[in-house]
Amino acid sequence: MTFKKAQWPRPLRSAHWFGGTSRDHIYHRSWMKNQGLPADLFDGRPVIGICNTWSEMTPCNAHLRDLAQRVKHGIYEAGGLPLEFPVFSTGESALRPTAMMYRNLAAMDVEEAIRANPCDGVVLLAGCDKTTPALLMGAASTDVPSILVSGGPMLNGHWRNQAIGSGTALWQMSEMVKSGELTQADFLDAEQAMSRSPGSCNTMGTASTMASMAEALGMALSGNAAIPAVDSRRRVMAQLTGRRIVEMVKDDLKPSDILTKKAFENAIMTNGAIGGSTNAVIHLLAIAGRVGVDLSLDDWDRLGRDIPTIVNLMPSGKYLMEEFFYAGGLPVVLKSLLDGGKLHGDALTVSGKPIAAEVEHVKNWNPEVIRPVDQALTSHGGIAVLKGNLAPNGAVLKPSAASEHLMVHRGRAVVFEDIDDYKARINDENLDIDETCVMVMKNCGPRGYPGMAEVGNMGLPPKVLRKGIKDMVRISDARMSGTAYGTVVLHTSPEAAVGGPLAIVKTGDYIEIDVPNRRLHLDVSDAEIAERLLAWTPPVEKPASGYARLFHEHVQGADTGADFDFLKGCRGREVGKDSH
Ligand code: FES
Repeated sequence: MTFKKAQWPRPLRSAHWFGGTSRDHIYHRSWMKNQGLPADLFDGRPVIGICNTWSEMTPCNAHLRDLAQRVKHGIYEAGGLPLEFPVFSTGESALRPTAMMYRNLAAMDVEEAIRANPCDGVVLLAGCDKTTPALLMGAASTDVPSILVSGGPMLNGHWRNQAIGSGTALWQMSEMVKSGELTQADFLDAEQAMSRSPGSCNTMGTASTMASMAEALGMALSGNAAIPAVDSRRRVMAQLTGRRIVEMVKDDLKPSDILTKKAFENAIMTNGAIGGSTNAVIHLLAIAGRVGVDLSLDDWDRLGRDIPTIVNLMPSGKYLMEEFFYAGGLPVVLKSLLDGGKLHGDALTVSGKPIAAEVEHVKNWNPEVIRPVDQALTSHGGIAVLKGNLAPNGAVLKPSAASEHLMVHRGRAVVFEDIDDYKARINDENLDIDETCVMVMKNCGPRGYPGMAEVGNMGLPPKVLRKGIKDMVRISDARMSGTAYGTVVLHTSPEAAVGGPLAIVKTGDYIEIDVPNRRLHLDVSDAEIAERLLAWTPPVEKPASGYARLFHEHVQGADTGADFDFLKGCRGREVGKDSH
């Protein structure tokens, strides 16, 4: 696509704050100068906000203030004025009930902070899972020139001479403790070895997936996704990002120029090739909603269906983000898609160039980590979208993390009414369940378990694990961590808490899953389903007040991105009435 640069020089939006001699201009400048800023920094140069999700409560983002310093260097070098500001930090590992409950809150914070402040452009500093989509959603709704730089993944986990991956090792080891293959003492010993440096999860979990999505969308510089947090090249990336945003402001290169339908299609195909997280489905739908791009679950299935997964990273494969970076990182994957005729090479990126130009000369330095297409991990990567009387609006499954022998399966349902019911009964040796059953969990969707917790990959019963069984079909309206694996049907929509058909499944019903034909069927007559739905009553009470109330009343279904209804769309960069 051709992008027409704006004329430069021209007055910028920050001139409303700093560009004159009125009382208000003096007021805005004078207070800013208490930070020791020389007068010539207010000469009409681009003012760049550094929107930082730094927080010690979000360990994956705890190093971002350091990285912001490098962004500042770059902004100064290019002739801009950097001003860093904090926004709500949605950390995955500590926030309760779930980080996802706060993604929309963070996005709202980002949007209002950008618009209300004298920002001509913004550098978005993200790391942990939800911080990347939250920043992109907020920035997209203002349409101020924006560029994202990720904090980068942690170094590989290492324990007893083995590489262990964030999250993935946790799920594996907790199952091994249950089955008796590992002692609790060993599990505790591995704790420090999983997280060896600053940075986000080192698997192809949601954080690495979303960093890759930002790059595939064109919202980050080429190569951003994979550089480890502690590699000096991460700092270089931050500095180059700082330089680039100043040019983007001069050109007026905005999110709406970059976040086109083609960009989203590129990201969906990329997600298939990297074996990315199912969480990307929800986040991309939400980001698309902010820029008015018509994206649906059907696009995910259509575009991802024939994309081979070529990135051999946990949880689908063997390696970790360090190896991915050393092999050449995401540009190699984009080049492979492009060579296969899959990518829209003309989609514009933050560099001002089309994505094809960015990856033209890259090389694959390790074909074991980034496989040639004819040696793909799985020929049908992507995300399968299943539909049927159990999920009229759709449900998702990640084939690359699932078991081949369970892709077509009919089994007796064992139903858990909610996460507490699951926790109370799963370890009961008298639970009537075996590996042919289908585990069903209800009331964990956006409204049922506020924020739609990552509990969809519910652990198997110990008595099944002891037989050496590693996987069973599991169905819920929950999400699953991007570091998790299994034949897990997620995001079943509409969710049980709003009266979706999942709400009326009973233990003993039979369920059919047919991934090749994209079918999810409850083997109960239509008349019986209608009767059960008539008798159904909502299980979740509306919270009395506060953010929980706002969330309950306005969150949308997973099939459209779980954004708030009133946050969809772009509200632009103009401020309302000036209070001075
Ligand atoms: Fe923060 Fe995985 S928990 S990136």
